[in-house]
Amino acid sequence: MTSFITPAPLKGTGRDLVDRINALKKERDAIILAHNYQIGEVQDVADFVGDSLELSRHAAMTSHPVIVFCGVHFMAETAKVLSPDKTVLVPDLHAGCPMSDMVTPEDVRRLRQEHPGAMVVTYVNSSAAVKAESDICCTSANAVRIIESIPAHQKVIFLPDQYLGEFVQRKTGRSLILYSGFCPTHVRIMAADIFRERKKHPDALVIAHPECPAPVAEGADVVASTSRMAIEVKSSEKKEVIVGTEIGMIHRLSRENPEKTFIPACQSCDCANMKVNSLEKILWSLEDMAPEILLDPGIIAGARKALDRMLSLS
Ligand code: 13P
Ligand code: SF4
Repeated sequence: MTSFITPAPLKGTGRDLVDRINALKKERDAIILAHNYQIGEVQDVADFVGDSLELSRHAAMTSHPVIVFCGVHFMAETAKVLSPDKTVLVPDLHAGCPMSDMVTPEDVRRLRQEHPGAMVVTYVNSSAAVKAESDICCTSANAVRIIESIPAHQKVIFLPDQYLGEFVQRKTGRSLILYSGFCPTHVRIMAADIFRERKKHPDALVIAHPECPAPVAEGADVVASTSRMAIEVKSSEKKEVIVGTEIGMIHRLSRENPEKTFIPACQSCDCANMKVNSLEKILWSLEDMAPEILLDPGIIAGARKALDRMLSLS
């Protein structure tokens, strides 16, 4: 007969959990990194909260031997590529990114054959295996700069996000070979959402992520990476802000700007993958030292080149 052991539920309050996480973090000499879209209590327990570029930099530079990465899978992989000798833990291995899953290493090889001589610029929202097939990576914070660093005559394949690619094209006047990937969360925001909220809040600042389709990005005052949004909001005089990105962003914005009001452009702009991490799972990952990100050394070496090129230009 099969018998099942039911784990004892965690007792205590969120505060107890935070205390237990902090104690274990010290014991393991771990650092907790969290993306700007994580749920509030995860952001609040983290040592550093930021966008993909900042998180990559932290992962590359930290002296802690253990990184608990609270974000989605490709971000934790990036941390492992940049710090291969460290233990990179993820509270939940199921935190994927559908955009990242839209492109495979075979797709990159096929595109190279179709466009001989083209360089491959890959958005960090991609697997380490795809990065390993690429010439250079970029994030939403530096995509324009990375493209501008490439000679104008050079053919460039940009993948996987078609909307970030279009944004970069508009900003640089360059023509890129675009891939058809997209973020299923950001495409939920419609231009009509921005117009409607602008009408209701005519004095508001409108911010949007470059993963949004063009009509949304063009209707915003600021189109930027998540951490750049935080800087722009802080320095703006506006008291109301319409937020055209994943709604988890509002936690950080509200914490840093308690006097301002934040209005989500679209309530359903919610990335389920970003929300699977919790305090309990962080504690369990530190207790078990699992789940851990493990990568093939060849993939690490290939992806590292593309990421290092990006970091040296940022
Ligand atoms: P940032 O690098 O701007 O934080 O964006 C990451 C992301 O996944 C947006 O959907
Ligand atoms: Fe991926 Fe979009 Fe979620 Fe960012 S918001 S992790 S791009 S699905």
